[in-house]
Amino acid sequence: MTALELIRALAHDATVGIVVIGPVIEPSGPTIVYADLAFGQLVGRDVNTIIGQIPRFMQGKETRRETLDTFHRALAAGERFHGYLTNYRGDGSKYRAEVDCRPLRTADCRIQNFISFEREVVRRIGRPTGSAAGRYEPVVISDDPFTNALREFAILEHASVVLFLDTSS
Ligand SMILES: Cc1cc2nc3c(=O)[nH]c(=O)nc-3n(C[C@H](O)[C@H](O)[C@H](O)COP(=O)(O)O)c2cc1C
Repeated sequence: MTALELIRALAHDATVGIVVIGPVIEPSGPTIVYADLAFGQLVGRDVNTIIGQIPRFMQGKETRRETLDTFHRALAAGERFHGYLTNYRGDGSKYRAEVDCRPLRTADCRIQNFISFEREVVRRIGRPTGSAAGRYEPVVISDDPFTNALREFAILEHASVVLFLDTSS
């Protein structure tokens, strides 16, 4: 089973937006091979219209070029990018997105895909808060095992977590 097949099987009803970029580098950039329903909901588009697109369609006037340059450098170096971007939905409305993007590597360490966990930040960054509760817009209510596993590993909360998938078989 490939990493993509595993993600497809487990992530379809996750509460966090999940988008996977394919390994083939088009001249204009790699394209989306998978997005879950929560990602479609987050970006305000039908998931089927997202597949095959380059993930720049969410950018607009207030998307900071400096942050995109940092993102670009991380991708080029095969490193994780964890940051905040101003994204735009299909209807033109903007939202603040927490983007946690990391490479998925094969057993021999080649980058096979990039996967990004994305969600809307609804509380102003820097505002003191005792917990993450209420900081993010819930996308959908779900109690599926994949989302629970993400919660357990605290993906999107702590920078030290690495999702490791053995794609050798
Ligand atoms: C998995 C993945 C998810 C991404 N999600 C977003 C996003 O939500 N918003 C955005 O502006 N860029 C996103 N990008 C980044 C852009 O595709 C692109 O890498 C970024 O604009 C920097 O590259 P550029 O300098 O070639 O534009 C994503 C990239 C990857 C690989």
